[in-house]
Amino acid sequence: MQDLLRDIEQKYHALGQNPETYLQGLLLSEPVNYWDYIQVDTLLTLQKPRTGFKDEFIFIVYHQVTELVLRLIRHELEQLTCGALPEPAVFAEKLQRMVRYSDLLCNSFSIMNQGMSYEDYNQFRLALAPASGFQSAQFRYIELHSTPLDNLIQPAKKAVMPAGISLREKFQYLYWQDAGFDRATGAKTLTLQQFEARYLESFIALAAQMEGHNLYARYQLLEQKGSATDMLRQALRDFDSAFNVRWPLVHLQTAHTYLGSGQEEKAATGGSHWEKYLHPRYQQRIFFPGLWTAGELAAWGKEEGA
Ligand code: HEM
Repeated sequence: MQDLLRDIEQKYHALGQNPETYLQGLLLSEPVNYWDYIQVDTLLTLQKPRTGFKDEFIFIVYHQVTELVLRLIRHELEQLTCGALPEPAVFAEKLQRMVRYSDLLCNSFSIMNQGMSYEDYNQFRLALAPASGFQSAQFRYIELHSTPLDNLIQPAKKAVMPAGISLREKFQYLYWQDAGFDRATGAKTLTLQQFEARYLESFIALAAQMEGHNLYARYQLLEQKGSATDMLRQALRDFDSAFNVRWPLVHLQTAHTYLGSGQEEKAATGGSHWEKYLHPRYQQRIFFPGLWTAGELAAWGKEEGA
């Protein structure tokens, strides 16, 4: 106790503060409790259905759960890409966490695929246009932390992209532009217009910050130094596979359940040609292409776990 009091005194003196004030504050403060610390009451005010259909609540909560899990992935990504180059063991350990979070998303998607009434879903979704999960900015932040912008451009788009264009201009060639393009008019859909108006500047800023610092670039640096490990390579492959193949496939299956379902294909709230667009074979979103063999790349997205 004496040692503790001495340490407290030293700490606050070093800060130019009176330790007694802080000790009195400690005496007066209420013990912490679960509900305030976790902000449970606030959390439970964030579900605001737009219709009276009961299953809309499930839809909202599961999207919110997903956004929190994406936040966990970003939490690790920020540490890996924004500070000093991490040690290979730390790099691998944080990636393994990201794989666990991605697994959680893949393994829980049945809550969407099997857990809502088909009829309810196809009613309440009509009240949600033009909003779409496509507008999840965290999804895009994760991509920008993970890989150079050029890896988010499909080969067909690269072939027509003028040489030497700026980073800002490259954004118009990213694979996800394809989901926000009205083929009848050639104009951007309202879904994409809203999304870019709200987030494009932050995407461009992050992409600029990540040049030479994204996950792939950092791994390549470790490889050059000869300190990359098999565990790290495996963790990178596992993350690529979970985030860019397994999740897109379970998500696409769910779109089939509610929008396809053996009946006439329905238009998505975001208006994309979703059946084609959402397939990982079409998107060819690969964060770490150098870690896959030519055969694996050719088979990308063909089957789960590729
Ligand atoms: C019944 C459940 C769901 C259906 C039917 C569905 C359907 C779709 C469709 C059709 C698209 C294509 C864009 C569009 O035109 O709207 C899309 C995109 C997207 N959705 Fe969902 N979705 C569901 C659940 C979710 C959930 C729970 C999330 C989690 C946040 C999510 C996140 C996304 C993302 C990130 C995209 C963009 C994917 C990309 O660009 O590759 N979706 N969704």
